[in-house]
Amino acid sequence: MVNLMERGVLLVLVACILPAILVECRVRHYKFNVVMKNHTRQCSTKSIVTVNGKFPGPTIVAREDDTVLVKVVNHVKYNLTIHWHGIRQIRTGWSDGPAYIAQCPIQPGQTYTYNFTVTGQRGTLFYHAHILWLRATVHGAIVILPKLGVPYPFPKPDKENIIVLGEWWKSDVEAVINEALKSGLAPNVSDAHTINGYTRPVKNCNSKEMFNIHVKPGKRYMLRIINAALNEELFFKIADHKLTVVEVDATYVKPFKTDTIVISPGQTTNVILEANNKAMGKYLVVVSPFMDAPVPVDNATGFATLRYPAFRHKTLSATLTAPPPINATAVADNFTNALRSLNTKEFPAKVPQKVDHSLFFTVGLGVNPCKTCVNGSRIVADINNITFVMPDISILQAHYYNISGVFTDDFPAKPPTPFNFTGNNQVTNVGTTKGTKVYRLPYNATVQLVLQDTAIIAPENHPFHLHGFNFFVVGKGVGNFNPKNDPKKFNLVDPVERNTIGVPSGGWAAIRFRADNPGVWFFHCHLEIHTTWGLKMAFLVDDGKGPSESLLPPPNDFPKC
Ligand code: C2O
Repeated sequence: MVNLMERGVLLVLVACILPAILVECRVRHYKFNVVMKNHTRQCSTKSIVTVNGKFPGPTIVAREDDTVLVKVVNHVKYNLTIHWHGIRQIRTGWSDGPAYIAQCPIQPGQTYTYNFTVTGQRGTLFYHAHILWLRATVHGAIVILPKLGVPYPFPKPDKENIIVLGEWWKSDVEAVINEALKSGLAPNVSDAHTINGYTRPVKNCNSKEMFNIHVKPGKRYMLRIINAALNEELFFKIADHKLTVVEVDATYVKPFKTDTIVISPGQTTNVILEANNKAMGKYLVVVSPFMDAPVPVDNATGFATLRYPAFRHKTLSATLTAPPPINATAVADNFTNALRSLNTKEFPAKVPQKVDHSLFFTVGLGVNPCKTCVNGSRIVADINNITFVMPDISILQAHYYNISGVFTDDFPAKPPTPFNFTGNNQVTNVGTTKGTKVYRLPYNATVQLVLQDTAIIAPENHPFHLHGFNFFVVGKGVGNFNPKNDPKKFNLVDPVERNTIGVPSGGWAAIRFRADNPGVWFFHCHLEIHTTWGLKMAFLVDDGKGPSESLLPPPNDFPKC
């Protein structure tokens, strides 16, 4: 008996302590001090909300299966939360981050430690503030390395680079959105696109305004590209270099070559770049908006350079490239249509083949009356006519502690009145209703969700993001979804798996997922202005059987409202 116990203790020692010493620590600790910091961009200085003073914030590196603890200390005047965008948070919804959905905010002066384990994911994701418009400057990369000893399913890069794309406003971002909410109109577009925090050269300006990617000839680079912009889908292109796409949203894809990638806010894309250009020198890297609807965007191209060493200190002009036209739908389609799950034995595409809940969501804008607004009306947004209103405490808490009166679980599975969703001259607002409604799913239910853009005010590409899950993009098309014919063309074999999907402008996209993660999961357009206007809802997934299928209890330091 004693002997067995001793052996048990020894086994625990071997299993837990030895590998930690010999291999590496499986628990990663980070500290985020959220502080104001002056940054100079576009030749003028502005105080912004940052993680540890950095813009973009520090990178989080973990391996698949690691546990990550991030202690967030709020030193600014705003309420704060951080979301680990794309991390599945299996049973740990308390660490997901969206304010009033998963948690009450971390108030000024308060601290909260996010605690989650990375399960079944490897690749690039990112984190960002998930309250107000703070994510404009509070964001950074998450790098998930494969398990120790497991190679990438593509030739190993010599070096990896992180490329975070963003937007820069010369004025205070919170002032921009507050102004818009007051007037009922659209907010000012940004003043510049950023590449790793830098914009583009400014004449007669001493501050560093441009980012350089340094490469050595003959070497292979993996660029981990993140779109952390608030409101703009972006094209990314490097002069005279092809990019091989190998992963999106932390799932491997069948590799393919392209010269332009398209990336929506909330999406990540890993590409391989071979630094094999015979001409060497400097090459322009361009980031420009993609908008194929009559909606104003920041149309200024962001620039960086790719530099080979011999030219590092010379002022030779760079090889130029033109970004695609702003409305280049065909370029965007070429890219997204090429995306396929890797679907190998090691990385199978587990597409749900049968559907328990078939949902149809119209997504788009609307106009509601507003006495105090400039035009007597305000722009709103809705899903199935519901303009989602945030509650005062988090829905996850209300669900866990059975607090009534916070939300209802009657989110409609389809629009109340069908209409010609994408028809021309779609001027009628079908009238949106305010509500804090969730769609309830039993544990492990399979869901098919068709997202249908509407032409009310204007058709527009909406990058929809689902918290807590990845989904498979089984189909997409232009015009109105045809429930008879379109499903026949669905790809149920190797569709791309991701967490954010651009619903085509004036079209539809169909996704499938399995509700195997208990909790409350936000689902929203990742254009921040649309989220603000109400283009959001949440799924509530009930506990399954036993502890392994149930939400864990909240941590002790869970913020209070
Ligand atoms: Cu990256 Cu709810 O968002």
